[in-house]
Amino acid sequence: MKIKSLKLKNFRNYTDETFNFSDGINVLSGENAQGKTNAAEAIFFLCTGYSPRANRDKLVVKFGEDSGEITGVADSAYGEVSVKIIFSQTDNKRMFVNGIEVLKISELLGNIHSVFFNPAELKLVQESPEDRRRFMNISLSQMSKSYFRALQNYNKILAQRNNLLKDRDIGLIKETLPVWDAGLTKYAAVIIKARNAFLSELSPIAEEKHALLSDGREKLVIKTESGYYGEEDEIAYAFNEDLKTGFERDLRLGYTSIGPHRDDIKFTLNGEDARVFGSQGQQRTVALSLKLAEAETFKTRFGEYPVLILDDVLSELDKKRQRQLIDAVSKMQTIFTATGISRSIFKGTPYTHITIKEGNLKSIKTIN
Ligand SMILES: Nc1ncnc2c1ncn2[C@@H]1O[C@H](COP(=O)(O)OP(=O)(O)O)[C@@H](O)[C@H]1O
Ligand SMILES: [Mg+2]
Repeated sequence: MKIKSLKLKNFRNYTDETFNFSDGINVLSGENAQGKTNAAEAIFFLCTGYSPRANRDKLVVKFGEDSGEITGVADSAYGEVSVKIIFSQTDNKRMFVNGIEVLKISELLGNIHSVFFNPAELKLVQESPEDRRRFMNISLSQMSKSYFRALQNYNKILAQRNNLLKDRDIGLIKETLPVWDAGLTKYAAVIIKARNAFLSELSPIAEEKHALLSDGREKLVIKTESGYYGEEDEIAYAFNEDLKTGFERDLRLGYTSIGPHRDDIKFTLNGEDARVFGSQGQQRTVALSLKLAEAETFKTRFGEYPVLILDDVLSELDKKRQRQLIDAVSKMQTIFTATGISRSIFKGTPYTHITIKEGNLKSIKTIN
């Protein structure tokens, strides 16, 4: 998957600008606050309908404007695809794939695959389990529409089940709960099976990437315990039994205490919990290794790499690791952002150098 062009109109600090990317490594460079991360954000938004840094769509509309849009054209194994998102201050966003409006995020997802990493992604290692579930959800939703739909349905039913558990009418609870449990079980099984498969594929690759980026000094081990294994029907059976056994406890707590909404991923480095004992640099390498592994899982599933977006990552690494990272990504289209780069770290690897100033593209050069 390769993004060919990106057009930004009234998006963040851009008024009207078009980027043309090369198939290999692209570096967006410029001083602070010029629009590098904004451009990186726009690509990921186009792929997922989700901004890693805006919780409301209208925040991305250029200050003082009513509406804006992002258009991207990408090449994939299935041909060319164009995706457009229009945002406004007042209305919901509108999405178009090859010129045809799509009404659901599920129809936007999967058209252009991407993996996004920026320094804020450290939260993946440092913060709550929710951040790790979000990682799995965003990744798996891009890979599978049925996962995305199962997740939406699961969350809906979970909210209804939790509401019911807070009801005072025990008769009503006992009568209605089995209906919610059946729905919850059905979607939980889809989610659990997909996460199991994803993590069993991802973990060994991430562990290997981490060894590479740390020069073999650190051994990363990834552990997950969904507690359910096998095919969907086996998972469903076991999960439903656990819901039934947990009924009294859930009733006392007033919420559903088991399920994919409670999943977590554990990272250890040389045997120690990376969340608690890892240095910031080590945690960053764990998060980066996970993202590189995620890119590999796209490749095994779809036969091609996603667009890899690495925002502000180079500056955080020493020269040697920068070099290792460039080697690791040279086989896929990668968009780096950086305030400054030294040509020497690219030696042998051609790249396209795009300079940005105040929301304008200043120059574009191919460097061999
Ligand atoms: N909705 C918006 N409208 C106009 N400018 C914005 C908007 N959101 C952010 N900006 C501006 O974008 C700039 C930051 O751009 P960013 O891409 O994060 O910079 P960097 O090049 O350092 O990555 C800031 O000057 C900020 O004010
Ligand atoms: Mg930035």
